[in-house]
Amino acid sequence: AFLTAMLNVMERRLFFIPSFKIYGGVAGLYDYGPPGCSIKQNLTQTWRNHFILEESMLEVECPAVTPEIVLKASGHVDRFVDFMVTDVKNGDCHRADHLVEGHLETLIDDPKTSPADLSEARDLLARVGEMGAKELEEMITKYGIKAPETGHDLSPPFPFNLMFKTSIGPRGDMTGFLRPETAQGIFVNFRDLLFYNGSRLPFAAAQIGNSYRNEIAPRAGLLRVREFTQAEIEHFCNPNDKSHPKFSTIADVAPLLYSQELQLSEEKKAQRMSVGEAVGKGIIANETLAYFIGRTYLFCLKIGLNADRVRFRQHLKHEMAHYAEDCWDCEVDCSYGWVECAGLADRSAYDLTAHTNMSKVPLLAFDRYPEPRMEEVLTIIPDKRELGKLFKREANTVACALENMEEDAAMAMKAKLEGNEAVEFTVEGNTYSIAPGMVVVKKEMKKVSGKNIVPAVIEPSFGIGRLLYCVFEHSYYVRDGDDNRACFSFSPVIAPI
Ligand code: ATP
Ligand code: GLY
Repeated sequence: AFLTAMLNVMERRLFFIPSFKIYGGVAGLYDYGPPGCSIKQNLTQTWRNHFILEESMLEVECPAVTPEIVLKASGHVDRFVDFMVTDVKNGDCHRADHLVEGHLETLIDDPKTSPADLSEARDLLARVGEMGAKELEEMITKYGIKAPETGHDLSPPFPFNLMFKTSIGPRGDMTGFLRPETAQGIFVNFRDLLFYNGSRLPFAAAQIGNSYRNEIAPRAGLLRVREFTQAEIEHFCNPNDKSHPKFSTIADVAPLLYSQELQLSEEKKAQRMSVGEAVGKGIIANETLAYFIGRTYLFCLKIGLNADRVRFRQHLKHEMAHYAEDCWDCEVDCSYGWVECAGLADRSAYDLTAHTNMSKVPLLAFDRYPEPRMEEVLTIIPDKRELGKLFKREANTVACALENMEEDAAMAMKAKLEGNEAVEFTVEGNTYSIAPGMVVVKKEMKKVSGKNIVPAVIEPSFGIGRLLYCVFEHSYYVRDGDDNRACFSFSPVIAPI
């Protein structure tokens, strides 16, 4: 009743309008009307002040239309999928994991469920997000799950890529996608941004803009939409030093933390704890992640969310991407349960490495030692004149590839050349015969002042629309229990004027 009453008020007052309403609308697409626009603008501006300006982040704005190669490198073309099932009779589409989750939740809430089944259901529920097609199919069969509303049988689950595909240019031969996250625009600009920052780490870049996901079944109103505004921060730091220069300013901030341990405990309740204590006890993996958790919590309070209805939930081990060191979701309690409004993830060196491999542009930072030191250094010196004579216009490419060989490959080549053998060397699909004398490979002691590293990335990623919706819920009330006297009590920073 609360939800219906509030949505009625919001729709009547044009906070939002189902898009293309006179043509029947499209699921997952909404317009903001005048008060909605005004509040969204204020919320976004507050985010920009709180993060970008207060933290001197480097702001960028990149296009949503993205060429395929970028999203191939990031893994989205191959892996940005949800598993879909269809109603075998009417063809309706459903997200397989959501149906399994719904079924398990009903089972867990049912007092008649035996302790053994209850415990199994709880374990499975924690793992649903990670299940592949086969395991989801096993769940659907095991529990006899049918299509909601119709009760019809379901097809086996199959992967569905959530990106909107398009083509760039009039010839239609360049595939593009609408970006599913703003983050990739920042990663591909890393080299220029690092230079802009005086080649120093750590630094953070940020972007506010729309992202697009062709969600399979967007039934959760304003929370799951197909076009939404994200506000994302990519904080680049040394992988061996994730301390944060301003951590002491935030160490006493104490949000509700729902750690892995608490999620697996009997009670399953989040506990309030300062982020300083959480880092001290090893609950949050590092200072930078904890710093952003603290700052995110302060932001939530600033925009008027209720402190006891905001929690930070740590991803369980199997929920995390294999490269992630630690991951926390900022969840807000609303009529739909606890909803993820921001994800804070330690993405390690994954994205920069992926784009380095695909683009062949090294996305590296120079880590300067406090004092220069003597180190054994691998030196590869191609004889460019000799290569030039033999390989002509390709000589430069070969020389460059030789210079950038990994240590193991270089040492193997050295051994062969010293044994007077030629070595087959492949560059971009072409093979060249490298004979003794064409390259010198040696290891020698040298004074070095630092080394190149792939920076680690800590990413706080916010969904502006989800935060806004939760602010609406936390601000809505009716005077004297009378539905006709509905009010929103907004925080001054976001109130429409
Ligand atoms: P979910 O599991 O709910 O689909 P997700 O885990 O895919 O979300 P992320 O990929 O971590 O979400 O996206 C980062 C942020 O972008 C989320 O915290 C959320 O605020 C926002 N977001 C993601 N998908 C949507 C959507 N369909 N509609 C609105 N906001 C979204
Ligand atoms: N950049 C995090 C996400 O959108 O998934």
